[in-house]
Amino acid sequence: MSALIIAIDGPAGSGKSTVARALAERLGWSFLDTGAMYRAITVEALRRQLNVRDDAALAALSASSVVRTLPRVTINGRDVEDEIRTEPVNEAVSIVAANPLVRASMVARQREFADAQPIGTVVEGRDITTVVFPSATIKVYLSASLEERVRRRGGDEEPASLARRDDADSTRAASPLRVAHDAIEIDTTSRDVNDVVEEIVECLHQKTSS
Ligand code: DC
Repeated sequence: MSALIIAIDGPAGSGKSTVARALAERLGWSFLDTGAMYRAITVEALRRQLNVRDDAALAALSASSVVRTLPRVTINGRDVEDEIRTEPVNEAVSIVAANPLVRASMVARQREFADAQPIGTVVEGRDITTVVFPSATIKVYLSASLEERVRRRGGDEEPASLARRDDADSTRAASPLRVAHDAIEIDTTSRDVNDVVEEIVECLHQKTSS
């Protein structure tokens, strides 16, 4: 495992990607958007017309696929950056992400990715603080009002779809979204991105200098 990890969890639209990306840039660390990995698998499953509820088929697909998130999201070399945010993917991704076999395969790759980074990694998702990196240097749980989260999605996702996804992600059996007992909770509703980034950097400095 790379020496330093900042793990960030929270519901859709809570600011995870924006904050995590800015934080990684600020620190000169690597960044990993784990939601993009589940979305890439979903795109490929839909393209192959697989039944996303077929656990064995999805497990085989995820085990045999190469997923990259940077500089663009690709699966088996095909660029899916634009496709991963479409409504059919928003609708199906929670089903794919609830599959424990898909999760096991993604979690192993997330750990491998962090392990290979030279300094540190900012990783964001739903189970990063609780399952993937429970011993992360800093754990953060971001939240924001539903209204604000829908606004941030810029009309990409219907409020009902977002709320349904939140519910599915928080109530599933496999690694549901929850607040780790030792996470710093930040409500980003009316906060500036840089302000949130600086708050986390301050926590990191306190932690690493103590
Ligand atoms: O963060 P996002 O909206 O791009 O995530 C897409 C979906 O993937 C989301 O509905 C929950 C799931 N997900 C997950 O289960 N675990 C993660 N670590 C990241 C995302």
